[in-house]
Amino acid sequence: MSKQTTTQALTLEVNGTRHSLAVPPETPLLSVLRNDLGLNGPKYGCGLGQCGACTVLVDGVAARACVIPAGGAAGRAITTLEGLGNRERPHPVQQAFIDSQAAQCGYCLNGMIMTATALLARCPHPTEADVRRALSGNLCRCGAHLEIVEAVLRAADLLAETGSEAAPAAAVSEPAAG
Ligand code: FES
Ligand code: FES
Repeated sequence: MSKQTTTQALTLEVNGTRHSLAVPPETPLLSVLRNDLGLNGPKYGCGLGQCGACTVLVDGVAARACVIPAGGAAGRAITTLEGLGNRERPHPVQQAFIDSQAAQCGYCLNGMIMTATALLARCPHPTEADVRRALSGNLCRCGAHLEIVEAVLRAADLLAETGSEAAPAAAVSEPAAG
């Protein structure tokens, strides 16, 4: 017997905006973010929860969007890379990565930046060991680890200098049709 897939209305709060979507609740959150909402900051790497490329924040905690069913994220505050900052107004963590030139191909950067943001929200003054531990599950095939660790420590200094919070303030706006 073939497996039945049920499509139902699902409301997701992403980057401060509520979206009503008609998707099966077991659809991976990453697919909904990229394919239905056009948010391409989170990347598809392994699809198995093992590389970190797809990392988003769920209620401020770094989570792997490729293995979270969209239905499981309903009612939670989801933040993607797009919710941190943009080219004109980068988030301090993004700015620190730019300043440190912490990238080669850039494919891992979404995961590195989102994981670093979650770390700095709970630990504003991390040691290098704290940073290495927090990022240990994020893979970088280019070997840019040294610059990435430097960037996170620089981000901590930048946040302290500016008195900013690492966690983005996500004000929820009115529902948008998805
Ligand atoms: S794509 Fe999600 S952890 Fe690799
Ligand atoms: S910069 Fe290429 S995977 Fe990290």
